[in-house]
Amino acid sequence: MKKIGILTGGGDCPGLNAVIRAVTRTAILKYGYEVIGYKYGYKGIYENDYIKLNLEAVSGILHKGGTILYTSNKHNIFALPVIENGLEIKKDVSDIAVENMRRMELDALIVIGGDGTLTTAYDFSKKGVNVIGIPKTIDNDLISTDYTFGFHTAVESATDALDRLHTTAEAHSRVMILEVMGRTAGWIALESGIAGSADVILVPEIPYSLEYIIEKIKKREAEGKSFTMIVVAEGAKQFGGDAVVQKIVKDSPDPVRLGGIGNKLAYDLEKLLPTHEIRFNVLGHLQRGGITNAYDRILSTRFGVAAVDLISNNDYNKVVVFKDNIISSVNIKEVAGKVKLVPEGHQLITTARSIGISFGDR
Ligand code: F6P
Repeated sequence: MKKIGILTGGGDCPGLNAVIRAVTRTAILKYGYEVIGYKYGYKGIYENDYIKLNLEAVSGILHKGGTILYTSNKHNIFALPVIENGLEIKKDVSDIAVENMRRMELDALIVIGGDGTLTTAYDFSKKGVNVIGIPKTIDNDLISTDYTFGFHTAVESATDALDRLHTTAEAHSRVMILEVMGRTAGWIALESGIAGSADVILVPEIPYSLEYIIEKIKKREAEGKSFTMIVVAEGAKQFGGDAVVQKIVKDSPDPVRLGGIGNKLAYDLEKLLPTHEIRFNVLGHLQRGGITNAYDRILSTRFGVAAVDLISNNDYNKVVVFKDNIISSVNIKEVAGKVKLVPEGHQLITTARSIGISFGDR
């Protein structure tokens, strides 16, 4: 009989509840283990704030976005901002969390998160905690896995948005820009751009020039198409320029929030094309919320089951991954602190170029 702790960290993401459900059901039904869920990510371990997870607690949540365990992209308990002697200092309180887990007699901790949360999980593994990571993020920017869960739902939302924007673009002969998320990676823009029939896809990995975008708009017009659809990743940048920062979240371990490139691009294009009507839309958190799609429900379920199987084999300090249609695992050390960008010459880029999609770079 083992006892497992589970937490969700970082931004919320479609599929978190599906993973919690799969872990709980596998632990109870397949192995007879006990499961507790820590609330608000690592903060829950530090404050010993948890709920008992049983079959009833995870009933009816498979499709729901968000997380029944709540989450936080702030509390880095290896450097927690605390007030001491009237001054705010960063304090490593991780030993308190380790002690709390020891008192709870946990055999393993399942951490569901993106690169920041999994890097902290790696730090806990170095303190002797048996961790298993599950790769979560709509951005799909974690290495060692072909896909993270949540990504396909985000792509579906962005594709749906492009379909809707097409209507107005065509009816009004406009240039329509859709800004999507993804941090420094262009995966969401790339896949939704292909699926949503964008004419121009701008990703952080390929800096763009306004002149090539204008060339594409004019080429379409010469071919009788009076509208153009552009999808731009929030981290995209003009050749020689920087990504647009929307805000700095001071107490977050990863404080930079990107955003605003859609606005900038519309402004820049309008100056060079004064006769054109240009509009931008920012999809924002609509990509993260709502109902989890079928693909992500299945991937999340597979990840959750695999995580508990690893625990049953005492095979710790691993991250479950999805490679070539198979679920396997890699050492958490290989994933911690790394980011997967769209590689130059990726097949999706060459595919998009083959059908005439411009990346604004040539
Ligand atoms: O990592 C997921 C993500 O949605 C990014 O795509 C985006 O840059 C960021 O989180 C937004 O964070 P927040 O919810 O703190 O605004």
